[in-house]
Amino acid sequence: MNTESFLHEAAVPVALDGWQIWRHKEVESTNSTASDLPAWSAVRACTQRNGRGRTGRPWVSDPGGLWISAVLPCPGQRARWAGLPMAVGWALIEALETLGASDLRLRWPNDILVGNRKLCGVLVERYSDATAVVGIGINVRNQPESFDPLLAGSTVRLVDLMPGRCDLDWIERHVLRALRRAHERLSVDGFPGIADRLNLTWGASRRVELTLSGSRMPVRGSFRGIDHHGRLRLADDRGAVQAWSASDVSLFREI
Ligand code: BTN
Repeated sequence: MNTESFLHEAAVPVALDGWQIWRHKEVESTNSTASDLPAWSAVRACTQRNGRGRTGRPWVSDPGGLWISAVLPCPGQRARWAGLPMAVGWALIEALETLGASDLRLRWPNDILVGNRKLCGVLVERYSDATAVVGIGINVRNQPESFDPLLAGSTVRLVDLMPGRCDLDWIERHVLRALRRAHERLSVDGFPGIADRLNLTWGASRRVELTLSGSRMPVRGSFRGIDHHGRLRLADDRGAVQAWSASDVSLFREI
């Protein structure tokens, strides 16, 4: 594990590429720590005691992974930023591929996988009207399955994909650049252009199962990409298409 940045836990942030980065040994959740910081701040920790995933699931955050939350400005109407989680997922794939990882894919709404194994998760939370906290967890050199045996076979680490350089500070820098790029694209071009480009990348149509929030009855169908709001388009067996937003869906499975 690269602990260099954490030998002296910063009482002041480190300035890097226009970001103010607070580095901690351990926090409850970097998203919570970042919740009242201004835009262009970031919080990174060696470990999280209570790392959170989407839809309230716990997120194993053992030493050697990159656990970071960045605060982005989100002026104007909330709907304008609805595509942020997916714009971030896409920019992160580009960044990780630049570093040397290959065969990455985005699983709606914003998991980054290799095959069916998860490399990276993104949790976007809004604590204020003006900003969004974008939490990113990347398995780098950690051992998630030793902390949760149920994860065996379902995760992949960056070090497995690019055994050479896997320095957390270096990855952090590329991740923060990717976030700035995602933010610029959304601010300048809006989400529809991003959605159109993402729709070219999903590959063959997959059968998927959605468990909707507040319902125990799963809905099955064929994944038909996303609409211009980032909602998943699901075709039923008769070809009728319905769109579901990530907040409607508590569990998404490829079947
Ligand atoms: C998911 O795939 O469910 C999202 C996982 C997001 C995990 C990251 S780790 C840094 C940040 N802090 C958290 O508590 N969660 C996010």
